[in-house]
Amino acid sequence: MAKKTVQVGLLGLGTVGAGVCRLLQMNSEQINRRAGARIEIKKILVRDKKRKREAAVAPQLLTTDPQEILRDPAIDVIIELIGGVQEAHTHITEALRHKKFVITANKDLMATAGADLLALAREKGLNIYYEASVGGGIPLIRPLKYSLGANRIERIMGIINGTTNYILTKMSLEGMDFDTALAEAQAKGFAEQDPANDLEGTDAAYKLCILAGLAFNSRVRFEDIHVQGIGGINQRDVFYARELGFGIKLLAIGEEIAAPAAAAFDPATGAASASEAESDSRSGSAASSGPSTLPGRLALRVHPALLPLTHPLASVLYENNALFVVGNAVGEVMFYGAGAGALPTASSVVADLIDAVRNINHEVENGIMEADFQPKKFVPKEALFSAFYLRLQAKDEPGVFASLATAFGQEGVSLDMILQKRSIAGIAEIVLVTHEVEEKNFNRALGRIQKTPAIKELNSVLRVIGK
Ligand SMILES: NC(=O)c1ccc[n+]([C@@H]2O[C@H](COP(=O)([O-])OP(=O)(O)OC[C@H]3O[C@@H](n4cnc5c(N)ncnc54)[C@H](OP(=O)(O)O)[C@@H]3O)[C@@H](O)[C@H]2O)c1
Repeated sequence: MAKKTVQVGLLGLGTVGAGVCRLLQMNSEQINRRAGARIEIKKILVRDKKRKREAAVAPQLLTTDPQEILRDPAIDVIIELIGGVQEAHTHITEALRHKKFVITANKDLMATAGADLLALAREKGLNIYYEASVGGGIPLIRPLKYSLGANRIERIMGIINGTTNYILTKMSLEGMDFDTALAEAQAKGFAEQDPANDLEGTDAAYKLCILAGLAFNSRVRFEDIHVQGIGGINQRDVFYARELGFGIKLLAIGEEIAAPAAAAFDPATGAASASEAESDSRSGSAASSGPSTLPGRLALRVHPALLPLTHPLASVLYENNALFVVGNAVGEVMFYGAGAGALPTASSVVADLIDAVRNINHEVENGIMEADFQPKKFVPKEALFSAFYLRLQAKDEPGVFASLATAFGQEGVSLDMILQKRSIAGIAEIVLVTHEVEEKNFNRALGRIQKTPAIKELNSVLRVIGK
């Protein structure tokens, strides 16, 4: 029989936890109507019961003992908002064992242990909802899982870390240097006091694990992604990029490169033979993916890149996030909005809660498919394709451009643009952009350039996407 009231245990009453409480109070009538039952928070786990909270909650709801929630048979749903991996994993596992549906906003946990936890949930006839784990308030999980389910997704490309996007926007639009932009992001609460995970691309890579898994029906581990952060990006590069018609963004990119039609198919693994697939593969361009029934290989990366100012993602500014998706039926679609924050993230968490309540009252199916995902083959870093931007210092003398063109030409790298920006005391600053090239060829060309006597210093190397 359908429950008239569904009781919920909340683990965590920080930024998102308080946002969830506020949203449940703010829109209670509509939320209950959509859920088909009255939603009631029965207990809330915190570390410190005395701390001042951002939501008005009755003090008797607070507990520091997780078992009061996890073992309470009256609680049907737990919402995990404590963060971190180990403890959250233990609590979610225990909640599933005690027959509770689970909602979480924890990307680190879902990226590292999501498939196993979802398998356990399915075994128990339950579900784990995790819309808020990527992109805060932007619906991304459901569109990839359901709304775009009829497509073969060719490419996903996203700005999925608000901190780095805030810093790069400040550098680009306001001419701020990196350190000042970071300090401002910290002061406004967009960056943690220890921002390493954001700046080094780790946060975006965990989110890409989740998104690429859903887009390409594959298990994706952090180790499968080539990750580079935004450290070392200089104001001069941001300035020159704009002058050339590009913005610099930290991009998370996933592509499925179709296996070539001629590749040998191994019926035991269902995979195309690596050598043939590799020799004919071409990442960096969805256009190269022809129709194929063979499983493709995944090219997954997080790195800063020059992106044409005309690309829809270039207009995603400050702390906002967006995901650009290319499907073989839908074409191009983009999801945009607030990637974090109390109420935007609560918007996703409470939408999950509505689904969970309807599920408890048997009105919707579980729809867990992630537990069946199998790993696909991955494209090695050296075989990825990109165009490149370089900034270097060279002797201001005749023949330097020619020697650069020769060094690149010897490795099959052709130049798209080459500009001399300024000359001080006999040293010229040169900016150049290559055409698209395989990384291993580019790296060989770079080695040659560094040995060229006229080249004094190599300042920056950045990829160029979507040229
Ligand atoms: N903040 C965002 O905008 C955002 C966006 C998307 C996803 N997320 C994810 O949402 C989750 C929560 O983030 P948040 O920003 O809300 O974190 P937060 O502000 O640090 O809040 C964490 C809450 O969990 C409680 N807690 C932590 N460890 C605990 C423990 N061992 N036992 C009992 N209580 C514990 C804390 O209790 P006390 O208050 O007593 O210290 C606090 O209430 C994380 O997984 C995060 O990645 C956050």
